[in-house]
Amino acid sequence: MNLESKVIGKPVSRVDGRLKTTGTAQYSADQRPSEDRPMHAVLVKSGIPSGRITGFDLSAVQGMDGFVRFLSHLDGALIRSIKNPADGSFAAGEEYTPFESDRVDFVGQHIGLVVARALETAEAAAKAVVVKYEASTARIAFDSPDAEVRQPILYNTGEELQVSRGDVDAALAKATHTVQATYTTPIEHHNPIEPSATLAVWDGDHVTVYDATQGSVNDKNYVAFGMSLDPENVRVLNPFIGGGFGCKGFTWPHSLIAAAAARVLDAPVLLVLSRKDMYTSCGHRPYTEQEVTLAADTDGVLTATRHLTDSYRSPVGDHVEPCGLTTAMLYRCDNLEVAHNVRVLNRPSGTPLRSPGEAPGTFALESAMDELAEKLGMDPVELRRRNHTDIDQRNGRKWSSKHLLDCYDRGAERIGWARRRAPGTWREGKDLVGLGMATACYPGYRTPTQTRLTLDRDGTLHVAVAVQDIGTGLYTVLAQMVADRFRTSPDTVRVLIGDSDLPPGPLAGGSMTTASVAAAVDDACRVLSETLRARLVKIGKTLGNEPLVVDGGALRTGALSVPMTELIPTGSPAIAAEGGTNDIYGFAGGVETDKSFYSFGAIFAEVRIDRDYGIIRVPKMTGVFDVGRVINAKTARSQMLGGMTFGIGMALMEETFIDDKTGRFVNPSLGEYYVPVNADVHELDVEMLDIPDYDFNPFGARGLGEISNVGASAAIANAVYNATGIRVRHLPIRLDDLLEGLPR
Ligand code: MOS
Repeated sequence: MNLESKVIGKPVSRVDGRLKTTGTAQYSADQRPSEDRPMHAVLVKSGIPSGRITGFDLSAVQGMDGFVRFLSHLDGALIRSIKNPADGSFAAGEEYTPFESDRVDFVGQHIGLVVARALETAEAAAKAVVVKYEASTARIAFDSPDAEVRQPILYNTGEELQVSRGDVDAALAKATHTVQATYTTPIEHHNPIEPSATLAVWDGDHVTVYDATQGSVNDKNYVAFGMSLDPENVRVLNPFIGGGFGCKGFTWPHSLIAAAAARVLDAPVLLVLSRKDMYTSCGHRPYTEQEVTLAADTDGVLTATRHLTDSYRSPVGDHVEPCGLTTAMLYRCDNLEVAHNVRVLNRPSGTPLRSPGEAPGTFALESAMDELAEKLGMDPVELRRRNHTDIDQRNGRKWSSKHLLDCYDRGAERIGWARRRAPGTWREGKDLVGLGMATACYPGYRTPTQTRLTLDRDGTLHVAVAVQDIGTGLYTVLAQMVADRFRTSPDTVRVLIGDSDLPPGPLAGGSMTTASVAAAVDDACRVLSETLRARLVKIGKTLGNEPLVVDGGALRTGALSVPMTELIPTGSPAIAAEGGTNDIYGFAGGVETDKSFYSFGAIFAEVRIDRDYGIIRVPKMTGVFDVGRVINAKTARSQMLGGMTFGIGMALMEETFIDDKTGRFVNPSLGEYYVPVNADVHELDVEMLDIPDYDFNPFGARGLGEISNVGASAAIANAVYNATGIRVRHLPIRLDDLLEGLPR
């Protein structure tokens, strides 16, 4: 009997669903590991964008009932300097050590910590600390004339940020059809519902950190380095995370500050970032200005592409928003130039946010493609078909598996693309109606992962790996993978993740966890099968070649059925196996291969725009995705719904404003930073082609977290153009962008 099809690809409900919906799942700030109530810590943050701290006046604080301690750079070396850690064992959001010096580089920088017995006291005390500064010249405005401009060489995946091939200028000189335009995207914040939080508990030289992080292993190495500890002396626990979207990916100074405070005070310390803290403490997507130039012949074949991105970084964080990387690989084009500049500004540090680079980059590229189609008088889908490539344009390799043309076909059919009309001509009642589309894509990443499997006497399988479920469904996907290999039900698999003491796995970023654990779980299952076969032979059984089936209280193969109690006699330990892989895909220094790994898709949007008020609604979006084998139809679809919803937010709502004079974010709250709510989201229509990519891993799955956010904002912007004839080249698009020019 082969039950494989009963597990993989099925819409298995979340195994942790009950814990989450009943409020029994324990997030970092919920943890109370001991009787000792933790001390509460609140950050003191810089109020100026550049300068030096000359002193702290604590006179209003010291008498406060329950105030325990104030910590700052004046307390000496609490934290080991983390600049350029020699072992490169972790990725941090900032190349800066908190409390190392009196220097201030942006508003919101952590410059002190108040610890008190009650949260209310800590909050009051943090407000009452008076900081004295010596301010120096700050460069905050994007166009600050004397800001240092850098051309970074590599993105953090190791990919080149400055790319050139062929001769763009020569091709442009000969071109018959060109478009050139500048597109801008705003500062955006992640805004996960769970704020970052760290509870640090020391026991002698060992610290346990309950940290809201997307990477327990990375976080462990960071804390170990900063606390001058052997990594074995740090344990990071993160069994549940309430979203991250990138802001809990690399680790940030607050985790070290909490650990240092708990060490100094010899007591558990809990530091929960406020919503406002979240805007300056763990990154954002920086504002971008992107100039895109496209040239095509009369058949619509691209002859030149140029994509220049201007963005910024903080003085202490090196994030680059890599907008042009997609452009360098997506369409066939021999003459191409992609460049990225960053200005060093006194702003908080940026970091990856929901398809970093791809999301803002495809807003520009896919808007420009729409403008080119318009100039050519060509259907936008047809223009993309004509520039389709079976070869990764960056390296000349064939794709492992690519079905993008099918995505265009299926999407066009599902949205009713044939209904589309000339710009500004489709009216229904008071509404202008339009359709738009864009290509979606996201790299296939995989990193080294180890896994431990255990088979119990009662027939339960346990899978353990130091990865984390940030809300994506990984608990369930892991149970399905193991269940599949032993032809059993996911109910018989217990999943142990969210603990850095387990065999190491990747951080939950770059949509890479499923593909990474797939290879490791497959290998561990192979090792466990061999171990079980050897055990069966040892107890005198004769085996054929049929696969092993864990069937409740028995292990079966072929006609043989052996009770677990016979396989694992009373008093014997459970049978354990470890397996894994050190293979790396999608990052520099990875596996030598003649293939390129990418997921693709097509996003279509219908918009309706009120002709009197310019209000933009999105009654329907369709996304068709080629993401390899889908492990769980339900959680995968939920990922796609989430990404397309992000697309609506990015296109129409999300924006953080910065005050160029003071360097402060103006709207750091969920009340003033708009995200889509249910009333903004109508029909989201998702199809996944579900074609396995066995070159990528033995389960054939590629990543699918971020792709549905890529191209989504361009699809909506292009639909707005189709509805109104108004081309908006900045995000978000608001009704005041349309009011004046709306066709009457
Ligand atoms: Mo994601 S922005 O790679 O956490």
